[in-house]
Formats: sequence, structure tokens, C-alpha cells
Amino acid sequence: MTKEKIKERIEKLRQILHYHNYQYYVLAQPEISDFEYDNLLKELKELEENNPQFFDPNSPTQRVGNDTTLEFKQVTHKYPMLSLGNTYSSEEVTDFIQRVQKGLNGEETEFTCELKFDGVAIGLSYKKGLLTQAVTRGDGVKGDDVTNNVKTIRSIPLKLSGNDFPEEFEIRGEILLPHKGFEKINNERKKNNEPPFANPRNAAAGTLKLQKSATVAKRPLDCFLYSILGDHLPFKTHYQNLTKAREWGFKVSEHIKICKGIDEIFEYINYWDKERHQLPFGTDGVVIKVNDYQQQEKLGYTAKSPRWAIAYKFKAEQATTKLLSIQYQVGRTGAITPVANLEPVLLAGTTVKRASLHNSDQIKLLDIHENDTVFVEKGGDIIPKIVGVDKRKRKTGSKEIDFIKKCPECGSDLIRIEGEAKHYCPNTAGCPPQIKGRIEHFVSRKAMNIGGAEATIEALFNKGLISDSADLYYLTKEDILSLERFGEKSANNLLQSIEESKTVPFQRVLYALGIRYVGETVAKTIAAKYPSIDEIMNASFEDLTAIDEIGERIAQSIIDYFKDKRNIKIIEKLKNAGVQLAQDNLTSKQKQTDKLKGLNIVISGTFKNHSRDELKELIEKNGGKNTSSISSNTNYLLAGENIGPKKLEKANKLNIQIINEDDFLQLLT
Ligand code: IVH
Repeated sequence: MTKEKIKERIEKLRQILHYHNYQYYVLAQPEISDFEYDNLLKELKELEENNPQFFDPNSPTQRVGNDTTLEFKQVTHKYPMLSLGNTYSSEEVTDFIQRVQKGLNGEETEFTCELKFDGVAIGLSYKKGLLTQAVTRGDGVKGDDVTNNVKTIRSIPLKLSGNDFPEEFEIRGEILLPHKGFEKINNERKKNNEPPFANPRNAAAGTLKLQKSATVAKRPLDCFLYSILGDHLPFKTHYQNLTKAREWGFKVSEHIKICKGIDEIFEYINYWDKERHQLPFGTDGVVIKVNDYQQQEKLGYTAKSPRWAIAYKFKAEQATTKLLSIQYQVGRTGAITPVANLEPVLLAGTTVKRASLHNSDQIKLLDIHENDTVFVEKGGDIIPKIVGVDKRKRKTGSKEIDFIKKCPECGSDLIRIEGEAKHYCPNTAGCPPQIKGRIEHFVSRKAMNIGGAEATIEALFNKGLISDSADLYYLTKEDILSLERFGEKSANNLLQSIEESKTVPFQRVLYALGIRYVGETVAKTIAAKYPSIDEIMNASFEDLTAIDEIGERIAQSIIDYFKDKRNIKIIEKLKNAGVQLAQDNLTSKQKQTDKLKGLNIVISGTFKNHSRDELKELIEKNGGKNTSSISSNTNYLLAGENIGPKKLEKANKLNIQIINEDDFLQLLT
């Protein structure tokens, strides 16, 4: 074959395969057998391999993924990815419709009702009909670029059909794992002794973040699209554009419906509340949207969500099953949590085998006896809980559950603190799950953020290489290499991550220590008043309770923590290792520089490590100017959590670079 002919054949094959892909994965109406499809794909693969000059990143062959390990690049969303107001009550749906009608001065309004897909949100960008980027929601402002993984999802078109799509647009939807695929993956995981995913949503999210796209390609992810964004959309209503998108090759649910008023909306909700169980994938509610874009615009947005849409969530599903036994887990604070082992039962698309029972009061309240038949429900969908007992099925003479008296891990007598629902194991220093739990908390993302250590702690602890969090800083490369599955590269990565954690600011270190009741916010509050560990150690109970928002319980817990000599030793070790045990005082210590000279920076939202005043001070100390509103003179929008959507939109329109707190600090280094 001449090169010309080869090129022609490659293009033809790509076209044919795109077509059959769409028939199979989007329309579920295959026209050829799998065998024929595979043969065509094989032919194309061979031609492409032998003629690399004709490579195309959007070829159907690229859906198989590869084994390259990728770090996900953070990408700023062109349009912020907002969330929806949620409700479980029909009254609130009625209120929403009335609010809309009032906001539109009684104009006639059409709504669309759609299924609320239970998966992971994704934004797909297309340019000239080609998929160019796929980004996860992230914090709504920035997400992860997961394009390579998304390309493996067969129902997402890599190349659009027709020629009437806008030159550039974004389409958003939900990536999900249908029930069947979920069962299959979990069965495989069990076979390989890997922990199963808790539900299809977690499985989809976990899959999307896998490092190797070849592994993603083996998981049967699917994607429904539910909104289009762009400057030149063909129609002025949401419904028309979505219908059109189907022609371009997107999978748009056939269950979207235009509803004219409240009665039709409730008819749709009630229908799907029952029928959802027949769907091959999970849905946790219905999304109601104003159909007309102009009306959407008029209604606008609140800080977090559009005023023109609402999500009605279905009530949790219930199932009955048998209680087999109760297991008692010991948390990092020594708190004992009873967990019920259940006879496996299918609930909302997943098999439930365990349910939390919270504490002994809860067991009493539910009046659970051994071998009872219980009602389980998925609250918030992740951890199922027992909500009642079917007493008609109780065997006569069955025994009440007797809450344990001794710690199941170390045998210490359990205690119960006054006013608390939980029992505790008091052996803080010697009870293994408490020690491991504290170290796991110490390395967690919001604390010291030591990547890769979470999974390793068990092994390090069991080998006697660490017995508290400070020991991490004294690990040698040889120590880490002595663990199974650790090679040169992963050992270096772990050591580097430990090293980097020495720059984590003081308030997060304080949180990382795991003092009971000192969560993120409390740590921030205390560090603002006492910016070093020495000052906190010297503070009296009265000093601490004098701080706004610090009550007696927290103050006592802090005093107790520092009374314990073992904790003082940990702090000494952390200090010697160079961990920030005093406010780094980026703001007050930092010298004047002109690193931000001539730059206008707008701050919006709330930030993890600094107050807005501190950021303002930093900008000014470094020669920049902090301005309050965005204009074409703005150089950066420093965006935190809960940033106003209007600000973001304006910044995007004016092409202003949006940076987060870490990016900003980078500018100063
Ligand atoms: S529209 C402005 N439609 O639910 C938000 N969202 O909190 C527009 N979701 O983040 C979203 N099905 O991930 C929309 N038919 C649907 C949806 C849907 C699922 C997800 C989406 C969003 C979350 C709402």
C-alpha cells in the first residue's frame, strides 16, 4: 500500500470505529459483533504502529490507555464548577418553584427534570470537535486534569459527529460505574485480597484518579452529560442543547423531561422514586432546572449554587437483614465504636455487610438483641446504619447485647467519660490501634500531608521502626527499604515527603498532634492566640478558656495532653527534627521584598493557612497591591474556598490568572 492509501485506510477505520463505538456504548444498539469490532480495531492498531507519522491522540486505539504513571495537573475551570442546593422535602421543592416564579416576575417558566446521577462530576472541553481536556470538579475552582483516563471511557466521544457543534465548548456530566461493573470490580478485588470499594461512586472516583490509564480502561466506567457551557451554543434552552449534543455523539439520558409546573415535577419525582431501582446505575435524586438560559441568567447564583436549579434527593433505601455479630473497633483517640456484622444484603446497588452502631447508648436505644433481624439504611449513602429492629422476628429468650468491658486490642478496662456517649480505652500509650491511628492522623492530608505514608504506617509500626509520629523524622532510607514493596524510588519519595512536611505551618502541626477535641478550626484559633507550642504549654486552664470558642472540655484536654511526659518527648523530637512548632510568621518575620512589585491582586474566599488580612499584609510587604474588585488591571485572583461565582466568572472573562494559596506562597519564595 502506498503511504497515501495507508492514510486513507487509517482514517476510514477510525471513522468506522467511532461510529460503532457510539452505537454500542451510547445507544446500546450494536450493529456489528464484538469479534468484527475487535478485528477492525486490531487492523487500525497495526497500521498506526507501523506508521507512527499518522498518530492521532483521539484515535479509537487511544482508549486502551497506557502504563505511564502520571501526576495530575491542576487546571483552573473556565467556568467554576458549582454544586446544587439539596433538599429531601417536597415543601422545599415547592418553595424553590415559587422563588423562581417570583424572581422572574411571574413569567411563564419551563423546567427540566433529570436524574441526579450518583458519580463523579467531570468537565469535558472540546475544540473543533475533538476532546481536548477532561477535568474533575476539585474544589470547584481548580480540578485535576484526568484527560488520559477519561479517554478510555467508551461512551465519551473523542471526536464529535456532524459539523454543527460550536468551535469551542465545555460539556459537563457525571462519570459513574453501573451496578454490574461495580460488582465485577469488587469481586476481583476480593479475589486479589484488596479491600472492596464501599459503593459505586467511590469506585468511580478511585478509578478516575488511578495513575495508569491502562488500568482505568479495564473498568467499565460510563458517563452521562447534563450541561453545556460556551459562548456560541446553538440554542437558547438547556433541553434543546442537550438534545442536540446527542447528535454530536454524547450520552445524554433519555429520562430528561420538560415539566411545565409543580404537578408535572412531582409526577416525575414520584415515578423515579419507585422506578430508580430498575436502572442499571445509581441515582440519588432528581435535578430540577429552569430550562431557558436567559431566565437562568436573571435568577443568578448564590455563593455556592445556581438559583435556577435544585436537587431533590430520594430518601435513603432500607433493607432488612440478620445481625451476625458485633465487632468493636478502637479509634486513634481510644474511642470504641461497635460495628455490626450483617448477613450480606443488597441495598441501593451495593452489598452491605457491616453497619455502624455508634455507641452503647445507640445499641440500648435500638434495643438490639443477639441474632436480631434489623433494618439497615444508607444515611448519606456511604456508611450504612442500623435504624431499627424487626421485633416480630426476634427469637424468644434472645439475649440483649452486652457492651464489652475490656479493650479488644490491649485488654485494658474501658472507661466512660461523663457526658460522653463513647467508651474509651485509657491505654493511650500502649494500645496499638491508638498509636497507629495517631500516626495516620499525623500524616493525613489536612495535617502534615506526608504523601504515601498512610499505607506504610502499619508496616513501619509492626517492624518496630516507629512508635510515635516523631519517629518518622528519624527514619533512614535503609529502614524504608527494609519494608516489602519499597524500592529506591518510593523510599526517596517518602523521605522527601517527610522532609517537605517540615514547612507545614504551625497551626496544622498543632492539629496533627491529635490532641483530643483539637480539630482544624480549634487549632487555628489557638495558634492565633498562642503562636508557639511553648506558649500553649505554659498557658493555664483559665488562659485557654479565655479564648473565644475554647470551652472547658477542650482546655482540659490540652492541659492533660501536655501533662503527659511521653507527649513532651514527642514534641522535643519534632522540634529537633525541624518541624514548625511556632508560627513561621511568614507575615511578621518576612522581610520586605519587591517580588510582587507592580502586581494587583484580588483576594476572595477563605483560606487554609492564612486569614485574608495576613494575605493582604503579605501582598503589601512584597510590593504588591491588594485591590478589592477585579478589573483588566488585575494580575491575579487569589482564590480560596467558597469564592463568589461572579468574581470567578469575571476573572475568566478578563483572562485573569487564578491562583490558590499554595501558588501564591510560591510567588514569594
Ligand atoms: S447540574 C450548577 N445535573 O450533582 C451545578 N448535576 O451538587 C450544575 N449531578 O456537582 C449541575 N446529576 O456532579 C446536574 N442531572 C444532573 C446531575 C448533576 C448529578 C451532580 C453534579 C453536581 C452535583 C450537585
